[in-house]
Amino acid sequence: MTCTATFSGKAGRPVYFGTNTKMYKTIAQTSDFLTELDRLTAGLSRERLTLFVIPSFTALERARRCAPPERILLGAQNMGWADEGQFTGEISPLMLREVGVQVVEIGHSERRHVLGETDWMENQKVRCALRHAFTPLLCIGETAEQKEMGLSDEVLRTQLKAGLQGVTAAEAARLWVAYEPVWAIGTAGVPASPDYAEEKHRVIRQCLTEQFGAVGGAIPLLYGGSVNRENAVQLIPRPNIDGLFIGRSAWEAERFAQIIRDCLAVLSAV
Ligand code: PGA
Repeated sequence: MTCTATFSGKAGRPVYFGTNTKMYKTIAQTSDFLTELDRLTAGLSRERLTLFVIPSFTALERARRCAPPERILLGAQNMGWADEGQFTGEISPLMLREVGVQVVEIGHSERRHVLGETDWMENQKVRCALRHAFTPLLCIGETAEQKEMGLSDEVLRTQLKAGLQGVTAAEAARLWVAYEPVWAIGTAGVPASPDYAEEKHRVIRQCLTEQFGAVGGAIPLLYGGSVNRENAVQLIPRPNIDGLFIGRSAWEAERFAQIIRDCLAVLSAV
């Protein structure tokens, strides 16, 4: 079913839905997915709604031709922080620009905890993405161990302060942040309860406001980690949750479009 509703946003604020397809989907699978997702969501007013898809690097160029940039933003899952150089295996901002990327995902939990990226590296990437006029999507989140020790808020504040070191308030206006608790992500993950997610989003909002003033308070905050059709409609109405960043439950276009439709229906009713 195609979505054709109009939607006025969350109390005037825009709402965001996106997916990172991780190391899944070939070029052909990505283009089928995007073509279908665009068909299913083309009728939705984008005035206060932003949709984005972050496929594998090899699929980016074809992906760009499957959906217009004003309807579905295209993101990269990672980016090196130099324009060019002796960085085997890295991808440069110039290369991403060339294929029409708009959003750069930085510091996903799997980059930090499986591949060993540090806050210093995320900071280099955020600054590089801003220099190249991308929208950086900085991902932060505590591990289960840190949560058990009562360190969640400190960890989030550290990741924000270190990751956004040297970023000006003017630049921060182009930033998005995703709260993705490590323990909530993936097949072994347990989704954060809407109350817990809202509480952490409040901490993040406060920290960003301390760092950047009013601009910081307006940075879109997305929740990610085992979002599904059931919990999406409970998470999205929360005042500090501006969007959902979804993995597995969004990798079929019809299912993703259904989650978007459900959320917009809930928001239109409040
Ligand atoms: P998940 O992935 O929804 O499959 O838990 C979320 C993410 O890694 O961003």
